[in-house]
Amino acid sequence: MKARLLVLLLLVCGATSFSEAATRLQFSVWMRAIDNKTVSVQKHLAAGREAEALADARALQQLYADMAAFFERDYPAADAVAISRDGERLAAAIPVHLATGDAVGAAQAARAIALACNDCHDPYKPLP
Ligand code: HEC
Repeated sequence: MKARLLVLLLLVCGATSFSEAATRLQFSVWMRAIDNKTVSVQKHLAAGREAEALADARALQQLYADMAAFFERDYPAADAVAISRDGERLAAAIPVHLATGDAVGAAQAARAIALACNDCHDPYKPLP
């Protein structure tokens, strides 16, 4: 009975550290995607390529939502959650601006995302 409990405990611990490691790896992948897409969304907007800009904005919205969840659940940090949610909202605003023909508003939202990177990097990069 005791041995079985121990095995169960070990399994649970092993599973937990595995999923944390996977999330950390995912975080690097997300961050490189954020790096690429904040640049390309601004290029597409500047060139008037709306469909491409929309795709980047939607991807950024999801990436920032995933990042917010990481800082809520895997590495609790309230200010990092707030910065991530701001980025998520800014990304979500891009399609709204485009739908109303507000190209300047869309470009400003994209630029605001790119300007906020260091607000999070200064306190949190690299993760311990
Ligand atoms: C809410 C927090 C947060 C925001 C916002 C954020 N980052 Fe990061 N970023 C991090 C953290 C934390 C790391 C370090 C990850 C680690 O140590 O594994 C990182 C790492 C990186 C890396 C290195 C990735 C790697 O492992 O190869 C790049 C590139 C990067 N960020 C780009 C950006 C860009 C560009 C932006 C803005 C458009 C941005 N980040 C916004 C938290 C953030």
